[in-house]
Amino acid sequence: MRILANDGLDRVAIDAFEERNFEVVTEHYEKDRLIKEIKDFDVLIVRSATKVDRELIDVAKGTRLKLVIRAGVGLDNIDVDYAKDNGIDVTNTPLASSDSVAELVLGHMLALARFIAISNVTMRQGAWNKKLYKGVELAGKTLGIIGFGRIGRALARKAGALGMKIVYFDKFVKENHEYKYLELEDLLKEADFISLHTPATGKPLIGKEEIQLMKDGVFIINAARGGVLDEAAILEALNTDKIAGVGLDVFENEPKPNPELLNHPKVSCTPHIGAATKEAQRRIGEEIRDIVLNLDEDIRKVTV
Ligand code: MLT
Repeated sequence: MRILANDGLDRVAIDAFEERNFEVVTEHYEKDRLIKEIKDFDVLIVRSATKVDRELIDVAKGTRLKLVIRAGVGLDNIDVDYAKDNGIDVTNTPLASSDSVAELVLGHMLALARFIAISNVTMRQGAWNKKLYKGVELAGKTLGIIGFGRIGRALARKAGALGMKIVYFDKFVKENHEYKYLELEDLLKEADFISLHTPATGKPLIGKEEIQLMKDGVFIINAARGGVLDEAAILEALNTDKIAGVGLDVFENEPKPNPELLNHPKVSCTPHIGAATKEAQRRIGEEIRDIVLNLDEDIRKVTV
């Protein structure tokens, strides 16, 4: 079997494949090269950098490529339906990164609530803003989680342990034994902190109107997907103090986000590193190893 891990892969999977004499290529092919080479691989493994679009699928269909694995959760860089319609299966690794993403969200919440992100900038410039940086505690505040899948629930457990009151909105999960469900509008009105955990749909879930419903001085975190938040509306609300702070791990224009956002004193930012921990990458590697090894025995049928 020939496997192309175009955006990298944990050693745990590479070792397992090499033990079975599979050939694993971990060099990153840019689009032109990928289009030339793809027909010679059985499995393509990607993270978010490689786009598996119609152009690539058109070249790959009918060749030995039978499976694309997304090493991560979001499938927005893969045209899943078109791939499947053309005989190329697609799967992802949804189990591996929930704790890592949830911890990063907490990191942004603390960085904003206690001015840690901006202190790292201003102290390096020689400032000592002790009087200016009077923060708020997370304990006792209401955290509204929008999207209550694995990551949302992991965040609820961790934030609950810090003394936060958790409410959530989800399009599908309306009942939960431990946490209170609210309609989106009610959540927006009640929450002191809001964290987004929904896929991109091509249209922002949170724009100007939704922001107007929120409490003054709300904090918002987006470690889901760029485009779920309307960045222009966010900037405006930051500048009018409607929003006290925004934590962003994902952006509308990755990897070149709007500099006005990045340089805003009330923004804590990271470069899409939600799943970038040793533990998550190892678990992703283990999931991918198991997917491919099962494939080897039971020919090519996996499901997203
Ligand atoms: C994911 O969808 O798994 C995360 O956003 C991480 C990533 O894309 O690298």
